[in-house]
Amino acid sequence: MSLFNRLFIVLGVVALIGGAILIFTYDIVKIEWISFMEIQQSFRPMEHPLPVASRSIPIEGAAYIPGQGAPVNPVEADAISVERGRVLFSVNCISCHGANGEGDGIVGATLMWPPANLTSPAVQTKADGALFLTISNGIQGAGGQIHMPALNENLTVRDRWDVVNYIRTLKPATGQ
Ligand code: HEC
Repeated sequence: MSLFNRLFIVLGVVALIGGAILIFTYDIVKIEWISFMEIQQSFRPMEHPLPVASRSIPIEGAAYIPGQGAPVNPVEADAISVERGRVLFSVNCISCHGANGEGDGIVGATLMWPPANLTSPAVQTKADGALFLTISNGIQGAGGQIHMPALNENLTVRDRWDVVNYIRTLKPATGQ
């Protein structure tokens, strides 16, 4: 047998075996492989966020030290910060707290717990750090119900301080 013929047969056998394997990988013959992605517990966005591993620190630095009280605002309330806060507020907060922060957003109207009026003295007299913690951790009711979701997954640390700086610019609408 010539060398060419032998090469031809070897290549033919390799192609046949390869083709047979491809039949399975392209699901022409479907095999129910065990998929570990499917069996694990799933979490929807903002639903029971996975607990952070103990003693871990986010790559952007620790946002605050638990148990040490409210953190101090490290971000100057300049025009850039307030403008960033305004944009982030319109994405993350308006639906519940309303365009002017008065607690009259369209989603907020459907909640069992009315969203806070962010222009009110009750909110405005709170320290920046207290507002930061509220945005980070959300608000849970006595029975563990979520009144306001924790938004630490949606907003970076800097984002949250920008939103706090923006909240400071909110004024009650005249006549109310
Ligand atoms: C899903 C609706 C929802 C979203 C989104 C939401 N909030 Fe709230 N927020 C609430 C509700 C409801 C309350 C009042 C909860 C209560 O009184 O128990 C509240 C309360 C607050 C308070 C008052 C806390 C206090 O100590 O008085 C602040 C500040 C606040 N929200 C800021 C924000 C900011 C900033 C955002 C966006 C980054 C935001 N919230 C997004 C629903 C929401």
